[in-house]
Amino acid sequence: MARDWNAAGYTALPLPHVQWGARTLARLPLNGDEYVLDAGCGPGRDTLALLARVPRGRIAAVDASPQMLAELRSRVTEKSDRLEVIQADLTQPLPLRERVDAIFSVATFHWITDHEALFDNLASALNQDGRLVAECGGRGNISSIHRAADEVLGRPGEMWEFPAEDETSRRLQQAGFRDVHVRLRPDPVHIEQFEVWLDYLRVVVLGGYLDAMPAAEQEAFVRAVAAQLPDQVVDYVRLELSARR
Ligand SMILES: C[S@@+](CC[C@H](N)C(=O)[O-])C[C@H]1O[C@@H](n2cnc3c(N)ncnc32)[C@H](O)[C@@H]1O
Repeated sequence: MARDWNAAGYTALPLPHVQWGARTLARLPLNGDEYVLDAGCGPGRDTLALLARVPRGRIAAVDASPQMLAELRSRVTEKSDRLEVIQADLTQPLPLRERVDAIFSVATFHWITDHEALFDNLASALNQDGRLVAECGGRGNISSIHRAADEVLGRPGEMWEFPAEDETSRRLQQAGFRDVHVRLRPDPVHIEQFEVWLDYLRVVVLGGYLDAMPAAEQEAFVRAVAAQLPDQVVDYVRLELSARR
């Protein structure tokens, strides 16, 4: 099962995910009556936007993190039978009532190292002709931070999958997807304030490293990684993908 997240810390940050979400939403054509899966919905920023995009449809918001799902539930102002909030692992058969018409995902797939299992599982949850539109970290994503963290740790921390375009195209086709489009998009983010930069490293980027070490060592680790880096830049390289089942 995937790790839990500090949802309050996450939503308090200046997240480029807001822009990634808007860009990914803009790539997903919808009629308004579809059943859509938000795969790795987190605190639900895009889930709520999707809900508004399908006024006659439904959304299944799936995430493994109890804290993220609690944050999403707290944001739903009206009780809606058009929204299902489901705690599940995206690599395991999903407890959906039926297959969905579309799958949307932002900043999640790279936290799952087995993309064959992920895409097989998503394909089996999607109706024939249904679309998958997603983005995640791609080849080269956060490479300078990853390198600095490994140096401080003294060994490679292997918690992400940042694949190249051709690898992802092949995996999607093997899982039964067609009309596959994949592209890498460098998208560095500069974080001005030092305290926010430390929080960003702590909550968004280095969480996988921190979970695996005693609490007493975590703060020194974050500061040592920050000290290794020449500037306060997250060297993001996004992988944007779309496909049809
Ligand atoms: C960086 S957050 C992105 C959340 C949201 N999509 C956004 O853009 O704000 C990554 C999310 O992926 C979820 N996640 C990671 N691995 C997962 C898995 N195997 N199954 C389900 N959710 C997973 C995490 O719990 C987390 O909420």
